[in-house]
Amino acid sequence: MKTEFAKLDGTADEEIYHRASQIINSGGLVAFPTETVYGLGANAFDVAACKKIYAAKGRPSDNPLIVHISDIKDLYPLISGISEKTQKLIDAFWPAPLTVVFRKSGVIPYEITGGLETVAVRFPKNIFAARFIKACGVPIAAPSANSSGKPSPTHASHVLFDLDGKIDMIIDGGHCEFGLESTIVDACGDTPYLLRPGSVTKSMIEDVIGHIEIDKAVLSPLSSGEKPKAPGMKYTHYSPEANVTIVSGSTEKVASFINEKLKSDSSACVIASEQTSSLYDTENLLIIGDRNIPKTIGSNLFKMLRKCDYLNFSSVYCESFDDSEEGLAIMNRLKKAAGYNIINL
Ligand code: TXA
Ligand code: MG
Repeated sequence: MKTEFAKLDGTADEEIYHRASQIINSGGLVAFPTETVYGLGANAFDVAACKKIYAAKGRPSDNPLIVHISDIKDLYPLISGISEKTQKLIDAFWPAPLTVVFRKSGVIPYEITGGLETVAVRFPKNIFAARFIKACGVPIAAPSANSSGKPSPTHASHVLFDLDGKIDMIIDGGHCEFGLESTIVDACGDTPYLLRPGSVTKSMIEDVIGHIEIDKAVLSPLSSGEKPKAPGMKYTHYSPEANVTIVSGSTEKVASFINEKLKSDSSACVIASEQTSSLYDTENLLIIGDRNIPKTIGSNLFKMLRKCDYLNFSSVYCESFDDSEEGLAIMNRLKKAAGYNIINL
């Protein structure tokens, strides 16, 4: 299959959305930008099209897809009932990098929910995403547009690298603002759960609906037999080919440990913050962002992990970051990328 590549630059954007909607409405796959990561979209009502998503990504069929809408009124046909807390959440945040779990209605096929009675829905804030969904005129089922297990794509070039020849079209809308996938909340029952942290933080959510539990799979590896509430959290994630190690401790100890490692291994690199980058005595240095502005680190994390592979590094030593607020999402993704390989000095 030839993958069409279309860049949104203000000159022919309407034609691009029109072409994308033709593809979606004839059962094809279109990758599109959002404020979090690029999504790989299909018509959520078209089971055959949604199955193509699983095939293109190599995604296990029990990992459900998020359904994307561009207007709040399009939510209600997809769900059966809404809890008071869920209603408060969507009123307070949507459109936003926040995905909410609902009991599904009969129009949502089980093939996209991995057999669950629930459906996860997101109303993205990104204007390109909203225009694409609106042009299609149907809800769009979309996981992240990467090969399953790889770091999520935050640039159209990442999508092209993973999925060229496997999907019909890529809409290039530039760099994704947040660079980490949306926060997922399930507030259907009495106890609301944070299933995946993102840039809508736990405390922002608690300001609206009160206390929320963090699902165990967010913080630590699950032991065999344990099931996360978001099925996707059990799979290996975000992993570059390179071995990733997180090194945590005082700035000096971390720098001297990593410098030692890099001295004896020219195929190893370090991912460091702007504040600490000068402590490394190496050219194999990738600067991820400003420690004091977590958003800069979140938006670059997946790009950096991909860059390590592109530059053929076989080992990556990464500094650790504060895991409060937006930092929880950063450390959740980084720990999964490292397979929980963490050295505490
Ligand atoms: O930011 C995002 O959410 C991006 C963009 C494209 O919107 N999408 C995304 O999709 O990250 P994906 O498929 O990579 O991750 C979806 C996660 C998986 O962990 C999946 O298990 C969980 O959402 N999920 C989907 N439906 C669910 C449901 N009904 N209940 C619990 N978790 C669900
Ligand atoms: Mg994903």
